Amino acid sequence: MATATTVVADRRLAAAPPAGEGVPEHLLQIRYLAAMAGLAGVYLGAARLGLLAAVAQRVVSSVWPPAGIALAALLLGGVRLWPGVWIGAFLLNVTSGVPAAGAAVIAAGNTLEAAAGAWVLARVCRFRPALDRLRDVLALAAFGALLSPAIAATIGTASLSWSGQSTTAQHPQLWLVWWSGDALGVLTLAPLILTWAAGPVRLDALRARAVETALLVLVLGAALRVLFVTPLPYVYLVFPVGAWAALRFGPRGAAATTFTVALVAVWYTVHGSGPFTTSSPLDNLFLLQVFLSLLGVTKLCMAAMFAERQGVQNALRALSRRLLHAQELERVRIARELHDQVGQALGAARLNLERLDAGAGRPPDAAAVAESAAALDRAVDLIRTLSFELRPAVLDELDLAAAVRSYATRQARRAGLELSLEVAALAPSRDRDVEVVCFRILQEALANVIVHSRADHVLVSLRAERGQLRLEVRDDGVGFESAPHEAGAQRLGLLGMTERADAVGGAVKVRSRPGAGASVVAVLPLARRGSGAT
Ligand SMILES: Nc1ncnc2c1ncn2[C@@H]1O[C@H](COP(=O)(O)OP(=O)(O)O)[C@@H](O)[C@H]1O
Ligand SMILES: [Mg+2]
Repeated sequence: MATATTVVADRRLAAAPPAGEGVPEHLLQIRYLAAMAGLAGVYLGAARLGLLAAVAQRVVSSVWPPAGIALAALLLGGVRLWPGVWIGAFLLNVTSGVPAAGAAVIAAGNTLEAAAGAWVLARVCRFRPALDRLRDVLALAAFGALLSPAIAATIGTASLSWSGQSTTAQHPQLWLVWWSGDALGVLTLAPLILTWAAGPVRLDALRARAVETALLVLVLGAALRVLFVTPLPYVYLVFPVGAWAALRFGPRGAAATTFTVALVAVWYTVHGSGPFTTSSPLDNLFLLQVFLSLLGVTKLCMAAMFAERQGVQNALRALSRRLLHAQELERVRIARELHDQVGQALGAARLNLERLDAGAGRPPDAAAVAESAAALDRAVDLIRTLSFELRPAVLDELDLAAAVRSYATRQARRAGLELSLEVAALAPSRDRDVEVVCFRILQEALANVIVHSRADHVLVSLRAERGQLRLEVRDDGVGFESAPHEAGAQRLGLLGMTERADAVGGAVKVRSRPGAGASVVAVLPLARRGSGAT
């Protein structure tokens, strides 16, 4: 307990002298300065609140809220806001009587903690503040809560030892209390700020669930009352309530519930009631921390997994809607081509026939005959193209390699593209599904080359290697931004290729950059020879 109190006091002290001369010159934008000043102020305020709770009963506040605020602020506003953290921490320490040099060092530790955490999360983990993916929750727990607080704890403990404010024997405990307090500050406060700031708060949605929200608050209140006011040690009562919040109100609900529980738990523990007051102060502290961390992390994981599942469901629903729409458009196109082109050609031929019939006896009009023949040729060609698109009969008659060769040659000739064909003879396969998928991907990729690429040259290669079919369609055209995060929702063709390949256990890679051509590679597993349906 003494140690605990020491830590709090040292932390207070831990800020240093300051200000005035400390404003970096390159901070020219007013908004930036205002954000930084705001952050420093909030940091200071949160630290004072944290200390108040701690000092009330000379027990360490097990949560160091400024750590969560600093990390969330740097994640939302950019790591460049770091001076705000330093100034806030420095002011806190210096106004609490810590010598300036020590305060500066401790503030640097706090700043480095937040900046390193935010940098790794944003740059390495491509963290999304909405916390609606499991990987973001795990990254926040690992880098924000477990690893980066070690920086502040190490620098802070070293600084205290160096200035003679702690003894060597105290260091391990000091370090542990410092580290775990920061970690819990991150776990309880950062998710609250991040999730609620990540997007617009939809009041109408909240209002629509006012009754359930009120009920949740009531039940949570009752559970917390049982936990902390009555002598019943049913700590786990809070978990189902947290699950309710997570599943029904998502990451925001999970974060808000954890924060509320943390607030109440720390308050009562500091005031000497509740289940975390029966052992030694340090043990109480760690029990409370483990309880709150487990609650926070499990509920956030739950909310994220549920959100991910819903995201997948929504994406599937949207996809099937788009596919139905695309199918309808395709039918319209085929109907129009049949009606306009084929209908016209056949109509013209019929007219000519009638004219020839009317002039029976006279020598046939050579021009009319030639015209009719041309019209019929057009119709035959169109019907062939259409039926080929609908169901490539070559696939039924020829093997895949021959079908690919014939289709690629035909399309390249029609589009005036120079074609390189590298199609190996394939061992006879019995996997029709894979062959059809391969052929469809070729069709879609070639269609894209013809419609979008403005290429002169296209390469089509097909070979079987290690039990897999590998198809590549590469062009030297204008290219496009193929990075997945750039992909618009409307890339139905590319999406369709991926879906088809996925359906037979394969994969499609699209590589392209503007100005650098494009390549589509499909790798599809071949059924072992002799196995598989006909
Ligand atoms: N080979 C290519 N060369 C240039 N741009 C391409 C190529 N393939 C695809 N694209 C770009 O990707 C977009 C998405 O393609 P796709 O999903 O097939 O949809 P669609 O062909 O209906 O536009 C195209 O609109 C085009 O901008
Ligand atoms: Mg396309």
